Amino acid sequence: MNQHRSRRTRVVRVDPLEPDPAAIEEAAALVRSGGLVAFPTETVYGLGANALDEDAVRSIFTAKERDASDPLIVHLADVSALASVAASVPPLAMHLLGRFAPGPLTVVLPRAAAVAPSVSAGLATVAVRIPSHPVARALISASGVPIAAPSANRFTRTSATTAAHVLEDLDGRIDLVLDGGPAPAGIESTVVSVEGDTAFVLRAGALTAEDLAAALPPGARVESADPGVAHASPGMLERHYAPRKPLTLVRVSGAHGAMALAAAIRAAIAAGETPGVLLLEEDALSVAPLSPLVRASLGSGSDPAVVARRLYAAMRELDRSHATVLFARTIPPVGLGVAINDRLKRAAARLIEV
Ligand code: TXA
Ligand code: MG
Repeated sequence: MNQHRSRRTRVVRVDPLEPDPAAIEEAAALVRSGGLVAFPTETVYGLGANALDEDAVRSIFTAKERDASDPLIVHLADVSALASVAASVPPLAMHLLGRFAPGPLTVVLPRAAAVAPSVSAGLATVAVRIPSHPVARALISASGVPIAAPSANRFTRTSATTAAHVLEDLDGRIDLVLDGGPAPAGIESTVVSVEGDTAFVLRAGALTAEDLAAALPPGARVESADPGVAHASPGMLERHYAPRKPLTLVRVSGAHGAMALAAAIRAAIAAGETPGVLLLEEDALSVAPLSPLVRASLGSGSDPAVVARRLYAAMRELDRSHATVLFARTIPPVGLGVAINDRLKRAAARLIEV
């Protein structure tokens, strides 16, 4: 039998704000006994296992077909649990946690010995986050252990923002999905490491650089880590968060994004393809005459919170459609736009710069 498809995956619906304690206890018992439970967080769905149980953590990598060199985030119920997974917490990290936990901030800290080695993929550090979603919090509290959880998707695919997405990728590979409805932010947490007075953003995410900067203590600063050098995250592969079909990304720096997008789509139609587009409202008129064209709406680029919430669901929708090739364009790089553009770039097989 295929080792990946040996479990029966149960789906249990829970109220996202007041989850049923019996459902949470069932999930917590599975975590304590080494099982795999997918659960909603405020960012995306996580695939959780007991972070202190090496075998359980390894089974996360098996279920996802994730590369063992890509470390996981450990989820805690509150800051008082930090000492169980981190050897120490630098002052700037503590300050940021004090300001943003619970919430979509992940901090990289020196690792405590109790953490299962596979969590950190051999690093001396551990990434830690305290989610704010009531289902995630209830599950971690009831489990009584820290929960290691990557996004609940197959390796290199887009993160799952609904229970249906989790099943698309992991049905038969995990024990349980707590279905708490769509994940509110729709994009992953911001990963930060700290060195003295500098916070390095290793992965842009749901917590914006502007919010981080505004919360810094006097004398501290925030920098985005240059991928490929000293502070980069090992898991930040160039091609990641990707749909199955090849995505062409129009990278817009000027004002002609809609025209460039329409031109690229027109060329694909002329070549006999059926394009699918991640469509911004402001581009709707420009692509209106184009046919055939499969459209998945992202809302307006001026409302990046909506774009973030829809992004992965729209990619999965186009993957399921009869489109043969996919198109998208970047949005203004402010606020959540930075994380959205980052994910689009990693999803892209081809870039057109305009
Ligand atoms: O919002 C999120 O962060 C979601 C939810 C489930 O919490 N989780 C998530 O996990 O996106 P994952 O495994 O898909 O991404 C974890 C990221 C990767 O980019 C990884 O390289 C980085 O965190 N990371 C983990 N441990 C690290 C460490 N010790 N040092 C540097 N980066 C680390
Ligand atoms: Mg992931």
